[in-house]
Amino acid sequence: MKKTIWGPICISAAVVLLAACGGGDKKAEQKSEQKSETPAVKDNSMVTSVAGKGKELIASKDCKTCHTEETKLVGPAFKEIAAKYPASDENIELLAGKVIKGGAGNWGEVPMAPHADIPKDDAKEMVKYILSVGK
Ligand code: HEC
Repeated sequence: MKKTIWGPICISAAVVLLAACGGGDKKAEQKSEQKSETPAVKDNSMVTSVAGKGKELIASKDCKTCHTEETKLVGPAFKEIAAKYPASDENIELLAGKVIKGGAGNWGEVPMAPHADIPKDDAKEMVKYILSVGK
Protein backbone atom coordinates (compact mmCIF):
# COMPACT_ATOMS: atom_id res chain seq x y z
CA MET A 1 0.00 0.00 0.00
CA LYS A 2 2.59 2.53 1.11
CA LYS A 3 4.68 2.00 -1.96
CA THR A 4 1.83 2.66 -4.31
CA ILE A 5 0.92 5.87 -2.45
CA TRP A 6 4.40 7.40 -2.01
CA GLY A 7 5.77 6.38 -5.36
CA PRO A 8 3.71 8.73 -7.52
CA ILE A 9 3.93 11.53 -4.95
CA CYS A 10 7.72 11.38 -4.97
CA ILE A 11 7.84 11.40 -8.71
CA SER A 12 5.41 14.28 -9.08
CA ALA A 13 7.22 16.22 -6.34
CA ALA A 14 10.46 15.70 -8.23
CA VAL A 15 8.81 16.84 -11.45
CA VAL A 16 7.41 19.94 -9.76
CA LEU A 17 10.80 20.77 -8.30
CA LEU A 18 12.53 20.27 -11.61
CA ALA A 19 9.93 22.33 -13.41
CA ALA A 20 10.20 25.07 -10.84
CA CYS A 21 13.97 25.20 -11.10
CA GLY A 22 13.94 24.88 -14.85
CA GLY A 23 11.32 27.58 -15.18
CA GLY A 24 13.19 29.87 -12.87
CA ASP A 25 16.39 29.49 -14.80
CA LYS A 26 14.69 30.28 -18.05
CA LYS A 27 13.15 33.41 -16.63
CA ALA A 28 16.49 34.59 -15.31
CA GLU A 29 18.08 33.91 -18.67
CA GLN A 30 15.39 35.82 -20.50
CA LYS A 31 15.78 38.76 -18.16
CA SER A 32 19.51 39.05 -18.62
CA GLU A 33 19.10 38.67 -22.37
CA GLN A 34 16.58 41.48 -22.45
CA LYS A 35 18.89 43.68 -20.43
CA SER A 36 21.83 43.22 -22.74
CA GLU A 37 19.69 43.72 -25.82
CA THR A 38 18.23 47.02 -24.67
CA PRO A 39 21.02 49.16 -23.24
CA ALA A 40 19.77 51.69 -20.71
CA VAL A 41 19.35 54.87 -22.70
CA LYS A 42 18.70 57.75 -20.36
CA ASP A 43 16.92 60.65 -21.93
CA ASN A 44 19.05 63.60 -20.94
CA SER A 45 18.11 65.76 -23.90
CA MET A 46 16.34 68.36 -21.74
CA VAL A 47 19.16 68.62 -19.25
CA THR A 48 21.86 68.91 -21.88
CA SER A 49 20.01 71.51 -23.89
CA VAL A 50 19.50 73.71 -20.82
CA ALA A 51 23.08 73.27 -19.66
CA GLY A 52 24.30 73.74 -23.24
CA LYS A 53 22.53 77.07 -23.57
CA GLY A 54 24.01 78.41 -20.34
CA LYS A 55 27.43 77.20 -21.39
CA GLU A 56 27.15 79.00 -24.72
CA LEU A 57 26.00 82.20 -23.01
CA ILE A 58 28.95 82.07 -20.63
CA ALA A 59 31.30 81.51 -23.53
CA SER A 60 29.87 84.59 -25.24
CA LYS A 61 30.57 86.79 -22.18
CA ASP A 62 33.67 87.65 -20.15
CA CYS A 63 33.00 85.09 -17.39
CA LYS A 64 35.92 82.91 -18.41
CA THR A 65 38.45 85.64 -17.69
CA CYS A 66 37.69 85.16 -14.00
CA HIS A 67 36.07 81.72 -13.79
CA THR A 68 36.81 78.21 -15.04
CA GLU A 69 34.92 74.96 -14.45
CA GLU A 70 37.62 73.32 -12.35
CA THR A 71 40.05 75.90 -10.96
CA LYS A 72 39.77 79.10 -8.97
CA LEU A 73 41.02 82.14 -10.89
CA VAL A 74 39.87 85.60 -9.81
CA GLY A 75 36.47 84.16 -8.96
CA PRO A 76 35.58 80.74 -7.56
CA ALA A 77 35.53 77.66 -9.86
CA PHE A 78 32.06 76.79 -11.17
CA LYS A 79 32.57 73.40 -9.51
CA GLU A 80 32.97 75.14 -6.13
CA ILE A 81 29.92 77.32 -6.69
CA ALA A 82 27.92 74.19 -7.62
CA ALA A 83 29.10 72.47 -4.45
CA LYS A 84 28.07 75.45 -2.31
CA TYR A 85 24.61 76.08 -3.72
CA PRO A 86 21.98 73.40 -4.45
CA ALA A 87 20.27 74.07 -7.80
CA SER A 88 17.03 75.37 -6.29
CA ASP A 89 14.87 78.05 -7.91
CA GLU A 90 15.72 80.36 -5.03
CA ASN A 91 19.48 80.02 -5.52
CA ILE A 92 19.20 80.35 -9.28
CA GLU A 93 17.24 83.58 -8.81
CA LEU A 94 19.72 84.87 -6.21
CA LEU A 95 22.85 84.05 -8.19
CA ALA A 96 21.37 85.35 -11.46
CA GLY A 97 20.83 88.66 -9.64
CA LYS A 98 24.47 88.62 -8.53
CA VAL A 99 25.71 87.98 -12.05
CA ILE A 100 23.79 91.06 -13.24
CA LYS A 101 24.46 93.38 -10.29
CA GLY A 102 27.86 92.05 -9.24
CA GLY A 103 28.67 90.89 -5.76
CA ALA A 104 31.35 90.44 -3.14
CA GLY A 105 32.01 88.93 0.24
CA ASN A 106 30.86 85.37 -0.35
CA TRP A 107 34.19 84.02 -1.58
CA GLY A 108 36.67 86.69 -0.59
CA GLU A 109 37.40 90.38 -0.91
CA VAL A 110 37.51 90.55 -4.69
CA PRO A 111 34.16 91.68 -6.06
CA MET A 112 32.56 90.32 -9.19
CA ALA A 113 32.00 92.89 -11.88
CA PRO A 114 28.34 93.65 -12.64
CA HIS A 115 26.90 92.55 -15.98
CA ALA A 116 24.00 94.93 -16.39
CA ASP A 117 23.60 94.06 -20.08
CA ILE A 118 22.70 90.41 -19.42
CA PRO A 119 18.94 89.70 -19.44
CA LYS A 120 17.69 87.96 -16.31
CA ASP A 121 16.63 84.85 -18.22
CA ASP A 122 20.09 84.50 -19.76
CA ALA A 123 21.72 84.97 -16.35
CA LYS A 124 19.47 82.20 -15.00
CA GLU A 125 20.53 79.86 -17.81
CA MET A 126 24.17 80.60 -16.99
CA VAL A 127 23.62 79.92 -13.30
CA LYS A 128 21.77 76.68 -14.11
CA TYR A 129 24.80 75.57 -16.07
CA ILE A 130 27.24 76.67 -13.35
CA LEU A 131 25.28 74.77 -10.70
CA SER A 132 25.38 71.64 -12.86
CA VAL A 133 29.18 71.59 -13.09
CA GLY A 134 30.74 68.58 -11.36
CA LYS A 135 27.36 67.04 -10.48
C1 HEC B 1 36.26 90.42 -13.06
C2 HEC B 1 36.22 89.03 -12.72
C3 HEC B 1 34.88 88.30 -12.89
C4 HEC B 1 34.11 88.17 -14.01
C5 HEC B 1 34.36 88.76 -15.37
C6 HEC B 1 32.99 87.32 -13.65
N1 HEC B 1 33.08 86.95 -12.34
FE1 HEC B 1 31.75 85.78 -11.33
N2 HEC B 1 32.81 86.12 -9.61
C7 HEC B 1 33.98 86.85 -9.52
C8 HEC B 1 34.37 86.92 -8.12
C9 HEC B 1 35.61 87.62 -7.57
C10 HEC B 1 33.38 86.22 -7.38
C11 HEC B 1 33.28 86.04 -5.87
C12 HEC B 1 32.40 87.15 -5.31
C13 HEC B 1 32.13 87.00 -3.86
O1 HEC B 1 33.07 86.76 -3.09
O2 HEC B 1 30.96 87.14 -3.49
C14 HEC B 1 32.42 85.72 -8.36
C15 HEC B 1 31.29 84.95 -8.04
C16 HEC B 1 30.41 84.43 -8.95
C17 HEC B 1 29.29 83.61 -8.60
C18 HEC B 1 28.90 83.17 -7.20
C19 HEC B 1 28.27 84.35 -6.46
C20 HEC B 1 28.00 84.08 -5.01
O3 HEC B 1 27.41 84.96 -4.38
O4 HEC B 1 28.39 83.03 -4.48
C21 HEC B 1 28.64 83.30 -9.78
C22 HEC B 1 27.39 82.46 -9.95
C23 HEC B 1 29.38 83.95 -10.85
N3 HEC B 1 30.45 84.62 -10.31
C24 HEC B 1 29.04 83.87 -12.19
C25 HEC B 1 29.65 84.64 -13.18
C26 HEC B 1 29.18 84.72 -14.54
C27 HEC B 1 27.99 83.94 -15.10
C28 HEC B 1 29.99 85.58 -15.20
C29 HEC B 1 29.90 86.07 -16.64
C30 HEC B 1 28.66 86.71 -16.99
C31 HEC B 1 30.99 86.05 -14.23
N4 HEC B 1 30.74 85.45 -13.03
C32 HEC B 1 32.00 86.92 -14.53
C33 HEC B 1 34.68 87.41 -10.54
C34 HEC B 1 34.22 87.55 -11.83
